[in-house]
Amino acid sequence: MPSLDEVLKTLIRDIPDYPQPGVMFKDITPLLADHAGFTQVVDALAASGRDSLGQTVVDKVVGIEARGFILAAPVALALGAGFVPVRKKGKLPAATFEASYDLEYGQATIEVHQDAFDPGDRVLVIDDVLATGGTVEACLGLIRRCGATVAASAVLLELSFLPGRERLAGERIDALLTV
Ligand code: PRP
Repeated sequence: MPSLDEVLKTLIRDIPDYPQPGVMFKDITPLLADHAGFTQVVDALAASGRDSLGQTVVDKVVGIEARGFILAAPVALALGAGFVPVRKKGKLPAATFEASYDLEYGQATIEVHQDAFDPGDRVLVIDDVLATGGTVEACLGLIRRCGATVAASAVLLELSFLPGRERLAGERIDALLTV
């Protein structure tokens, strides 16, 4: 079986000039289409929600729209935890908290249902890419505003040429691959 590193390097492809000229887009669709690779990635991300004995230590897994959903839902099932969507503004039907932030390209507002967590819930945050860190930072703020505790955040890919990790100094951020 190929190593996780090999799987990620082989199955995540670079698409130049998307969505804007000068941006190198990391496309994870070949990875998602590969059952063995996708399984390996979900297992590796789920490890961030387990202790050293393999016991699940989180109650909820948060996925960040849109690509974070694809990864976070199977991670939640693997951990025996609930799934909570953090969505782009205007998509959640009940009362929400919202946070706005700058993206690598553009601006965004994300929301979470105010009642998404039970008191004392421990939360694992999952997203595909850590770039400037704005998305994860905003998401952590929303989770804490709901009264839940952030256990860790885990991403498939960290772009180390952007200051995401510095921006999130003091937070636990696990990355399966750093480029
Ligand atoms: C992308 C990516 C992360 C975020 C990372 O989301 O999926 O959520 O940018 O960037 P940051 O660290 O600079 O905040 P985007 O909204 O572009 O795309 P998606 O809806 O396809 O997931």
